[in-house]
Amino acid sequence: MGPGKAASLADATRGRILFGGDYNPEQWPEETWHEDVRLMKDAGVNSVTLGVFSWAKLEPRPGEREFGWLDRLMDLMHTNGIGVVLATPTSSPPPWLGRLHPETLPVDEDGRTEWWGGRQHFSHSSAVYRRHAAAITEDLAARYGGHPALVMWHINNEYCTYDWGDEAAARFRQWLRDKYGTLDALNSAWGTAFWSQGYGDWAEVHTPRRAHYLKNPGQVLDFKRFTSDMLLECYVAERDIVRRHSPDHIPVTTNFMPLWAGQDAWRWAEEEDVVSVDLYPDPRDPFGAQHGALVQDMTRSQARGPWMLMEQAAGPVNWRGVNHPKPRGLNRLWSLQAVARGADAVCYFQWRQSRQGAEKFHSGMVGHAGEEGRTFQEVKRLGAELRRIGGHVTGSHTRNDIAVLHDWHSWWAGAHEGRLSTRVDHTAVLTAWHRALWQAHLTTDFAHPEHDLSAYKLVVVPQLYALTDPAIDNLLAYVRGGGTLVSGFLTGVADQDDRVRTGGMDARLRGLFGIRTLHEWWPLDEGETVETDGFRGTLWSEEIEKGDGGTVEVAYKGGELGGLPAVLRNGRAWYVSTLPEPHALRTLLAQVADGAGVRPVLHGLPDQVEAVRRGDLLFVLNHGRESVTVEVPGSHQDLLTGATVEGEVTLGRYGVMVLRP
Ligand code: GAL
Repeated sequence: MGPGKAASLADATRGRILFGGDYNPEQWPEETWHEDVRLMKDAGVNSVTLGVFSWAKLEPRPGEREFGWLDRLMDLMHTNGIGVVLATPTSSPPPWLGRLHPETLPVDEDGRTEWWGGRQHFSHSSAVYRRHAAAITEDLAARYGGHPALVMWHINNEYCTYDWGDEAAARFRQWLRDKYGTLDALNSAWGTAFWSQGYGDWAEVHTPRRAHYLKNPGQVLDFKRFTSDMLLECYVAERDIVRRHSPDHIPVTTNFMPLWAGQDAWRWAEEEDVVSVDLYPDPRDPFGAQHGALVQDMTRSQARGPWMLMEQAAGPVNWRGVNHPKPRGLNRLWSLQAVARGADAVCYFQWRQSRQGAEKFHSGMVGHAGEEGRTFQEVKRLGAELRRIGGHVTGSHTRNDIAVLHDWHSWWAGAHEGRLSTRVDHTAVLTAWHRALWQAHLTTDFAHPEHDLSAYKLVVVPQLYALTDPAIDNLLAYVRGGGTLVSGFLTGVADQDDRVRTGGMDARLRGLFGIRTLHEWWPLDEGETVETDGFRGTLWSEEIEKGDGGTVEVAYKGGELGGLPAVLRNGRAWYVSTLPEPHALRTLLAQVADGAGVRPVLHGLPDQVEAVRRGDLLFVLNHGRESVTVEVPGSHQDLLTGATVEGEVTLGRYGVMVLRP
């Protein structure tokens, strides 16, 4: 754990929803800055993120400093009442660093260097990179730590680099020594008796580079842990510098990518004052809103309260194969969805769309069409609405009865290339289960398997392939204490070293679910399904023999598994050995939730309508393009319009109401 959490998001919001975005004024002449300020004020922007990619501008040659332009900007923002989220520029080092110190450049698993010319070309393990990053951070923090425009520190940007190079290998060895102490312990954890991999000297241990055939799973797993830890060290080093230079009420964040494999975000969140995320659902994805909901639920759970939507797009992104704009109203709908799920900041990449560089076709709040453009006009309307509701929502919490469990280490372990089915993807399974709950209008938190789960009526485990002993004990204690647990397939298979548990699934968990023997796993091919007496299963099935206490709720029908349990229950513990088709999973989870005493937010909601409670407010969101009428018992005031509604509400295309009793 780092130093205590002195500051929080509330210090930056002060009762308003932060509204704004990444601002890259160095791409524009100074006249444009004044135009920007006029438009920002027009749109109700109260926060901009400066400096994310400014290292070359701040330090054009080694050791030089050019702060004049940033001084003028900080003052300009302050004069106009716009807060600054100031970024350390360390995610994109200037070209001179790579030229003078090629060892700062990351190396991929094939030994190829990643050169400057793009971004994020730094090695997390490079002592020289870290020294230069610390130096520019120090000077930036010393200069602006006390500036009145400063509302938050933003460290680096989307930490996401891997490095297989020599310096990283040396660091990896040290990390492993710290973890295991002896080579014997490492050999045991990695199971190096297999394929003659035993290490006799630390110098033989490497980052998992290109190999002829399947790599050692333990080595790959520890490399992922190491990468997350190295990046975290980089973050913590800069965080501690900026904290030294700024007053206690300035919180620190770094922006996550949603469900990004490279960072154990549970661990990282503990080191942040504000948990922030960048969220870009595809406007064409019929489940874009659910993807948003999942990321928002996870971010709020990591934050344990209000969180920051650091980046979203006002229109199209430019990194999908085909990049679609947001239809009229969608930006507002998805922004208010984030607020419903706990966001106290609604921000964008970026303020003004670039005219040059790799992202010139990525939207901005002010697009190429400028002030008259639909995108800016919608942004402006949204800004006014956020101002209206800010005082009612900021700081308020949500309470959910369901926790969905997720753990990066389990994801990493289960992703090894030697698994039984490459069709099984942790995030896809997680998404399928969250989607089923979302469609059943059940709102959820996320939790780590070792967290205290006692506040929840229902704990949902889509898939936790690897579980530590404390996690298993936690799940058992949760059910013993009266909780209901429902788990998907491939859970509890391995321990923390990715060693398969005796019997293919931990014996305590088998006891919990009423499984006597897990004979074989039967993965399914693309398009293949398996019949049961209740639904069709997809992706996976299992040859399970029921044990004492187990009740077969749904049985496989026909085929090799006919008569064996597809869904097995032992009291309040449920085990689902396949992935039911979406409508069936939804029905099953709704049934289990109902049995656990968990009810949807509102009854009888149409499919395209989402209802979310935040504090004493009820957000009702229509994700459809057709208008819809929804029963809402009682009398409410819609904070967006001031109108009073009784008994039911009608929402137009992408309509939203924020109802106060
Ligand atoms: C984020 C990044 C931004 C911008 C954006 C485009 O990943 O932090 O700098 O590139 O994506 O969608």
